[in-house]
Amino acid sequence: MDAADWDARYAASDLVWSPHPNVWVEEFLASMPPGRALDLAAGEGRHAIWLAQRGWSVTAVDFSAVAIDRLRVLVDEHLGAGASAVTARVGDARVAAEGDQAAYDLVLIAYLHLPPADWRLALEAATAASAPGGVVFVVAHALRNLTEGVGGPGDASVLLDPGMAVESAGGLPLSVEIAELRERAVEGADRAALDTVVVFRRLP
Ligand SMILES: C[S@@+](CC[C@H](N)C(=O)[O-])C[C@H]1O[C@@H](n2cnc3c(N)ncnc32)[C@H](O)[C@@H]1O
Repeated sequence: MDAADWDARYAASDLVWSPHPNVWVEEFLASMPPGRALDLAAGEGRHAIWLAQRGWSVTAVDFSAVAIDRLRVLVDEHLGAGASAVTARVGDARVAAEGDQAAYDLVLIAYLHLPPADWRLALEAATAASAPGGVVFVVAHALRNLTEGVGGPGDASVLLDPGMAVESAGGLPLSVEIAELRERAVEGADRAALDTVVVFRRLP
């Protein structure tokens, strides 16, 4: 899907995604001391808002202008006087922005599903944006989710298993701290969603 497809998807509905943070984002990041975070492919901003509520200063990027407009409204609604903790911009996750170089303690990539070559570009951009010692946190629908799970894209070529995520980081200055397949309960579904959770640490 390109940016126009995502714009149309967001425009067609009031709130496309859950307003709550993803369970793995909560589990893995709640104890991380706040600093500067980059939320790549931020969508409507549920994670940017959640992080800002925990003291983070967040830059939220998405290539859908409709998503970013909505994110700004939701940031104002949820954060009020603290809304300045979130800076939002329309941008491509595959392109490292100059001002982002080595700037972030945390780069979050949640459910960004791209063909492998584009995914690699996004991971390169995330790596470039993370400060030495910083975390690149990836959560994605796993390949097995297609046949054994629920939700997520129906195109196998954009799904990401833990091993694929680790492989895609080959040659980048990242160490792998966690690479797991996790089962996520989905309300109303008779089976769990299968998610990939990967924690990379930016090497000095
Ligand atoms: C499934 S949504 C996830 C949104 C958010 N991360 C969340 O977890 O709620 C995927 C998002 O990726 C964005 N996206 C897809 N390709 C992108 C790209 N190349 N650059 C920036 N955003 C992109 C879409 O616009 C969409 O908002």
